[in-house]
Amino acid sequence: MTTFWSTWICVLTLGSLIGLTWLLIGTRKGETKGSVDQTMGHSFDGIEEYDNPLPQWWFLLFAGTLVFSVGYLVLYPGLGNWKGILPGYENGWTGAHEWEKEMARADARFGPIFAKFAAMPVEEVAKDPQALKMGGRLFASNCSVCHGSDAKGAFGFPNLTDNNWRWGGAADTIKTTIMGGRMAAMPAWGEMLGDAGVKNVAAYVRHDLAGLPLPADSGADLEAGKQAFSTTCVACHGTNGQGTEAMGAPNLTQPAGFIYGTSLAQLQQTIRHGRQGHMPAQNEMLGNDKVQLLAAYVYSLSKGNEQLSGEPQASSVK
Ligand code: HEC
Ligand code: HEC
Repeated sequence: MTTFWSTWICVLTLGSLIGLTWLLIGTRKGETKGSVDQTMGHSFDGIEEYDNPLPQWWFLLFAGTLVFSVGYLVLYPGLGNWKGILPGYENGWTGAHEWEKEMARADARFGPIFAKFAAMPVEEVAKDPQALKMGGRLFASNCSVCHGSDAKGAFGFPNLTDNNWRWGGAADTIKTTIMGGRMAAMPAWGEMLGDAGVKNVAAYVRHDLAGLPLPADSGADLEAGKQAFSTTCVACHGTNGQGTEAMGAPNLTQPAGFIYGTSLAQLQQTIRHGRQGHMPAQNEMLGNDKVQLLAAYVYSLSKGNEQLSGEPQASSVK
């Protein structure tokens, strides 16, 4: 605040306080004892106004608020650029500063716990019940909007509790995904393949790769679809449709992992117009230590407890 505004506020505030004090003391009058006529001397349609002194309690309450405001303005920032004589308000008193102080207190309290987990491998953190509890809370407040409170995903948002990974399910890969975010880019093929081409390749993906039944009247040419796939799609989805984690190109032989639907219409839509799934990076908002706990939590979701304690768990691999 510039000196001008600071002075302006001081003059206004102190001026009002002094003015109010004068008003209170200057107009105060004692009990008009012995006076015969205690009215103000005017009458409105026979209604007369008594000339009584202010009640004692009211006067004291008013005086109290004046004393309080002076005390407050001395102790806390409130008068222009004056910072108050209490320590801790060097930067003024705003909600943002209060929040920063709160965060600093939380960091001092939880910092050592975070630091302990940050120094451990993610797989180890995933075995610690306290870490999983903290990770679960972080997930609920930062991730459930998109991935669902049960982490099972929704249309366009992957299920994080199964073993179908678009970008990879190793503990460190999961951490990389959360820290840096991911940008998937499935190109649009409508123009290149034409309408019949899109229908053929969609049918091929659904039937031959994903192993799902086709309606009898689909009219699609699976052989042509296979041909188109082997020239257009293998670069990213692999020769057998098994996907490429480095590009986030999903495994097309695992329909349970599809996030844009498996119906012919949905597949055609995806192939015709492409898809750009975006997982937002969390490194700036949450930082390494919190992402460490989140990665451990997400990692633990698809791994049964047996697997976390070292034994392979084939049943969870679909
Ligand atoms: C440049 C690499 C690339 C090529 C080429 C490519 N895709 Fe994709 N595809 C991707 C990526 C990346 C995704 C994931 C998109 C996302 O998550 O938003 C994807 C997603 C898909 C999906 C959606 C899966 C789901 O989760 O619902 C289908 C179906 C698919 N591709 C089929 C095809 C077909 C058929 C072709 C060939 C015509 C093809 N793709 C060519 C990279 C590619
Ligand atoms: C704005 C919505 C959004 C939010 C918030 C979000 N995600 Fe995601 N996340 C996505 C999308 C979309 C994808 C899929 C990207 C793609 O198409 O490949 C994804 C992918 C992922 C993957 C990779 C899954 C795979 O199969 O490889 C992980 C792990 C993940 N998210 C974890 C998290 C965690 C943990 C949080 C909370 C910090 C979070 N996400 C918050 C939208 C979101």
